[in-house]
Amino acid sequence: MDLSAIVLAAGRGERLGADKAHVELGGATAIERVCAHLRELACDEVLVVRRQGAAPLPAGLDVERIDCDTDAMLETLRAAWRARRATLRARVLVFPIDYAMVRADTLRTLLSGGAPITLPLCRGRVGHPLVLAREVLAEIDDPAIQSLRDVIRREPSRVGVVEVEDGFVLRDIDTPADLLAARGVLANAVPATELLARHRSRRAWRDEAVGDAQLRWLVDSARRSATSSFIQAASVVAVRDRATKERIAALCSDQAQIREAPVFLAIVADLRRIARACERSGRRMNADTLEVFVEATIDATIVGQSLALAAESEGLGTCMIGAARNHPRDLAALLGLPRHAFVVFGMALGWPADDPLPRERLPLDAVLHDERYDDTRTDTALAAADEALRAWARRSNERASPGTRRIDEARGWSDRMAFLFGGDRPHKGRQNLGPELREMGFGLDGVSGRDSCGGIEGS
Ligand SMILES: Cc1cc2nc3c(=O)[nH]c(=O)nc-3n(C[C@H](O)[C@H](O)[C@H](O)COP(=O)(O)O)c2cc1C
Repeated sequence: MDLSAIVLAAGRGERLGADKAHVELGGATAIERVCAHLRELACDEVLVVRRQGAAPLPAGLDVERIDCDTDAMLETLRAAWRARRATLRARVLVFPIDYAMVRADTLRTLLSGGAPITLPLCRGRVGHPLVLAREVLAEIDDPAIQSLRDVIRREPSRVGVVEVEDGFVLRDIDTPADLLAARGVLANAVPATELLARHRSRRAWRDEAVGDAQLRWLVDSARRSATSSFIQAASVVAVRDRATKERIAALCSDQAQIREAPVFLAIVADLRRIARACERSGRRMNADTLEVFVEATIDATIVGQSLALAAESEGLGTCMIGAARNHPRDLAALLGLPRHAFVVFGMALGWPADDPLPRERLPLDAVLHDERYDDTRTDTALAAADEALRAWARRSNERASPGTRRIDEARGWSDRMAFLFGGDRPHKGRQNLGPELREMGFGLDGVSGRDSCGGIEGS
């Protein structure tokens, strides 16, 4: 390989409240995880820089420890360079321990780059770790160099990037929220189909924050979903402010899981950018049709479901909130939505504290038809769905703590649907929804041509 690795593990972990090298990640410490990857890569030597007096490294790592009296990144790297310059190989992987979640295959991809300075590039941003030619690393001896960035910027022609998909080249472990996210990813590393099968809506939360870096990563992933005609008519408003969440909860049937969740996400059907694009070319948006309304709603829904799945893939829990359509205008005003935008549904997001039994869905044969819809299966499907819901009620009651309201074990799914939809008044009337959506700039008519969106709109 002709490769040395320098693992920078001298930080005090003040924000994390723990020595980063020793935090547990998927059954091993961070330093063990990194060293296992480096062994897999057949690194010729591994140097681990520690602050003087820092806890010993786990036994059996087969690394050389170098102590230094500072935890400033450049100085720790200098300490390694000065101590081992004679033996360092042609290429040096500089690996801050904060990036311990980076996968071995990502490192292999990174090492395929041949530039004197090779950086991982993920979703348009460069991250860590990086690979330096030995003679480039030697430049840190120059006292004029203040940071590794100075070396990188000296000569842009020396810098090469390698595209990777591993978001952990960008997501360091710096805070307790980062650590929770990292552990969540490791604990949920299963195929997407298994994640889907594990899904449950969650309504109680641990008192732990959802980190901003994690939230940004999740939304950045979800926003890549398919979109009708590339209109990208979805936005997400993330609310963490306690008072705002209280007011949102009040507009959404006072559901406690909204108030108590660390984050409320409003999943928005958003034609504002299209209205603005039209305006900038001197045109009036003509989107006053049911079809455009449906398209925007589908776009938002797809982003919302992708976001829920992404969140669940990192161990977070979600509860979608249809009650966000109770008072669409008031909620839009509270969130400062422009005209042509409405909250399709909300999502309470957090680290789940409850453990509900999964609710069995309708049988596959009722949902998947071969070539043509087979209505003869419907009654069998209802019988199966009824029994599944009753079994779920029985098992939930058995598990419930004393004092919890019991679920009616006699009621099947079809009874429930008949109750919800078979009354004199429409289910969840929300009679205000249509008129309010029209006022907010959505047409709900089947035909286009009438420009009731108001032409050139301001927000
Ligand atoms: C668009 C949408 C809106 C929802 N709105 C609410 C809501 O306002 N409150 C709530 O507690 N659950 C809400 N849910 C969650 C459903 O009740 C839940 O998905 C369903 O009962 C199945 O349970 P499961 O998700 O645990 O499998 C909503 C789900 C969806 C898809």
